[in-house]
Amino acid sequence: MAIRDGRIVAAAAEEPEETVEANGALLTPALVEPHIHLDAVLTVGQPRHNLTGSLFEGIAIWGERVKDLTVADVKARAEEVLRWQVANGVLFVRSHVDVCDPQLTALRALIELRAEVKDLVTLQLVAFPQQGILSFPDGEALMRQAVTLGADVVGAIPHFELTRDYGERSVKFAMELAAEHGKPVDIHCDETDDDHSRFLEVMVAETIRLKLTGRVTASHTTAMHSYNNAYAGRLISNVRRAGLHMVTNPLDNAVLQGRFDHYPIRRGHTRVKELLAAGVNVCLGHDSVMDPWYPLGYGDPLQAAFVLAHYGQMSGYEEIRTLIDMITVNAARTLGLADYGLAPGCRADLVLFEAPTEIDAIRLVAPRRLVLKAGRVVARTEPARHTITWRGAERPVDYQVAAKG
Ligand code: FE2
Repeated sequence: MAIRDGRIVAAAAEEPEETVEANGALLTPALVEPHIHLDAVLTVGQPRHNLTGSLFEGIAIWGERVKDLTVADVKARAEEVLRWQVANGVLFVRSHVDVCDPQLTALRALIELRAEVKDLVTLQLVAFPQQGILSFPDGEALMRQAVTLGADVVGAIPHFELTRDYGERSVKFAMELAAEHGKPVDIHCDETDDDHSRFLEVMVAETIRLKLTGRVTASHTTAMHSYNNAYAGRLISNVRRAGLHMVTNPLDNAVLQGRFDHYPIRRGHTRVKELLAAGVNVCLGHDSVMDPWYPLGYGDPLQAAFVLAHYGQMSGYEEIRTLIDMITVNAARTLGLADYGLAPGCRADLVLFEAPTEIDAIRLVAPRRLVLKAGRVVARTEPARHTITWRGAERPVDYQVAAKG
């Protein structure tokens, strides 16, 4: 591969300024994080730990922590996680930001950060009404204010509104607001085990009515796990018809869904395989990093992909490869990124893995040896070296058996 002036070109110069020997390692475009909540990252344990690990205890704890938010606090935590993401090869991030705050503190903080990091990371901010639009005082006005202030994307949370009617109206409000301002939509939709939560169909209908195809994303949609198959089948074909992008978040949803079940406990996950088979663009998000809902993680999409391989039963040969698409090209389509990919003319935003194939990358959650932004190295990782004493002699251990075969 040849790079000139920050872009991929068809042929290398006769005497390139610099060359990198890839040794047959996997090279992908920069990773894309389509769903994270940067305003809440690194707050785990503040002011107390979530002892049950449940969504509702998480919401209660966040309700306490949110009172202490300042611009400096949000920026410092978000910037730390953005650095982790860059080290993991992520150069494009869509973050939801809670706007149920009359001061819009978190949004102001992340708008500042968005400008400060823009040469390295492209940050899209979603106006996300954590406590609802119609169910929160002045919710509609706050959403409008957030868009005027500079949110890139309009969100909603219909399943959390007080009534089904509010939920439906919140979707229509958010999508009309987006249409009015020429913004994309990304809605936390049906993130519940309740099979009566059916707001995705409202998103489909509104996308068609407002002619927003290609600009609308539904995140989570975990209730789809519990719908009857006839309803889910019809819904999936309509999702395809409306051209919605879908984001699945296996880390958070693996631990948060199914909490009201006795055995057998549902996985509570959207129907990834069926959506992909229907030709729907599905991508994979991390969601939380060390917050009241999910205490683990370091912002690595590969770790989320590793979990989806199990949790979504995507262990077939092609399915494991698809997981890499879900954190690169599929997520790039969701974010509407231009000039993204490995073709000549694309920006040279690249990741070189310490692994020869997509399958090894997932298997090993392999280190990102090099991360390039516009052709320049912006992150390096030295892989760990392992040695053991084996039958009396010191020997190296290399997990990449397949690479040698
Ligand atoms: Fe989320």
